[in-house]
Amino acid sequence: MTHEHVQIIWSDTYSVGIKEIDTQHQVLLDILNKLTHHSYDTLGEQKKLDLLWDKLEELNQYAVFHFTIEEALLHEHLSDDKATTIHISQHRQYWVSINHFKKLAREDSMNIVALVEFMNSWWIEHILNTDSVMGEKLIASGVS
Ligand SMILES: [Fe+2]
Repeated sequence: MTHEHVQIIWSDTYSVGIKEIDTQHQVLLDILNKLTHHSYDTLGEQKKLDLLWDKLEELNQYAVFHFTIEEALLHEHLSDDKATTIHISQHRQYWVSINHFKKLAREDSMNIVALVEFMNSWWIEHILNTDSVMGEKLIASGVS
């Protein structure tokens, strides 16, 4: 059985126009690619899961830092914008989903492909649809 080995290649499409945020998104996508990579490893199931959890942990530690920076920018510059509440609730919802996958893993019923697909689509959609709008508004309010 062959899987398509999906890797996300950074391009201007993903740029939100703010260097600090773009740099952090590049780090996140880089870790995400490694996570995806391990899901295709032909190692034993346990070894593969260990590597995957390692990368997931690394990604999520960085995500905590990253969300904190974004939310500080939102509070400082876009606190009156309705989209700010939605943006922050998307960040909260991310952890709800992560905890759901962790629960499934504890019950031994986690599907690795489902986890990897969720991670890839959550970050891509969030960057393209939510962070990019935030970027435009931050730039309009003088952030560079
Ligand atoms: Fe965000």
